[in-house]
Amino acid sequence: MNNMMPHTVKIVEVSPRDGLQNEKQIIPVETKLELINGLRLAGLKNIEVTGFVSPKWVPQLADSAEVCAGLVNDDSVQYSALTPNIKGFEKALDCGINEVAVFTAASESFNQKNINCSIAESFDRFAPILEAAKANDVRVRGYVSCVLGCPYEGQIDPHVVADVSQKLIAMGCYEVSLGDTIGVGTPKAAAHLFSLCAEHVQPDHLALHFHDTRGQALANILACLPLGASVIDASVAGLGGCPYAKGATGNVSTENVVYMLHGMGIETGVDLDQLVKTGRIISTALDKTPNSQVNNAWYS
Ligand code: HMG
Ligand code: MG
Repeated sequence: MNNMMPHTVKIVEVSPRDGLQNEKQIIPVETKLELINGLRLAGLKNIEVTGFVSPKWVPQLADSAEVCAGLVNDDSVQYSALTPNIKGFEKALDCGINEVAVFTAASESFNQKNINCSIAESFDRFAPILEAAKANDVRVRGYVSCVLGCPYEGQIDPHVVADVSQKLIAMGCYEVSLGDTIGVGTPKAAAHLFSLCAEHVQPDHLALHFHDTRGQALANILACLPLGASVIDASVAGLGGCPYAKGATGNVSTENVVYMLHGMGIETGVDLDQLVKTGRIISTALDKTPNSQVNNAWYS
């Protein structure tokens, strides 16, 4: 198993978007920028900073233009933003964003609740985004939600996940992130799903986006690493959840992921000490204890 482990893993930090979107209290732009900058200084090279979604649907992200305006210029960092439709894409482009993420699901019911359309309609919305992205040299990532279970439909057929993933790549997404939105997956199911998707999409073009609702996320990641997984989405201090998925808590905490990977000799380029500090600062700002065992154990 060890021989097949990756030497390096790319971490996509999603806390400023996935982490904060669920917070009820509106967080000041300065606090968000402090978080993003702390993540940058910790060595994270891919940071999803906000979403250009409807402010009626997600009020917390209504300040996306201001957040983008305050980003520190750093050529070594790829900032990205979530865009559900061409309207969101155009706003992101106006704000100087050069990587966006489109998002759909492997569950029809979840898609209706989250973006008010079917899976097929979501692809119709993405087509103009992919076209405009190509014309403007913008990279596009794709998310598939509910890959290991849905809050409305229960079990999800992994073949549907593989099919949706393949379509996103065929449309022009450079990477597809597999979202266990409500953290119901267990290692065998995660490995089975990853293997199946990897038959259709290059494994290094697949990302693991596991929420840690039931404490399975690290185990699920570990089950996928020997199968060729080398991109992991994570959220500092385990912040997060989806407002349209009951029971969705935070993504796996970045501190836990980095600690595990470094312990296994896998490089991430992240300075764990600086990362823990950043997790502390945002948790204090939100009046929360970090949802990360590594963070909580760091100073004990
Ligand atoms: P809709 O109501 O069907 O859209 O929402 P519409 O096209 O009919 O427009 C309705 C209104 O929204 C109009 O304004 C539009 O202008 C406006 P009005 O005329 O009423 O004043 N509007 C917008 N405003 C700003 N930015 C936009 C935009 N688009 C329309 N981009 C829509 C459809 C997709 C917009 C809505 O459902 C939406 O924004 N949903 C986002 C929900 C969301 O952000 N969920 C959380 C992120 S997904 C997630 O967390 C999962 C993930 O982490 C992976 C995983 O864990 O599984 C990615
Ligand atoms: Mg998520």
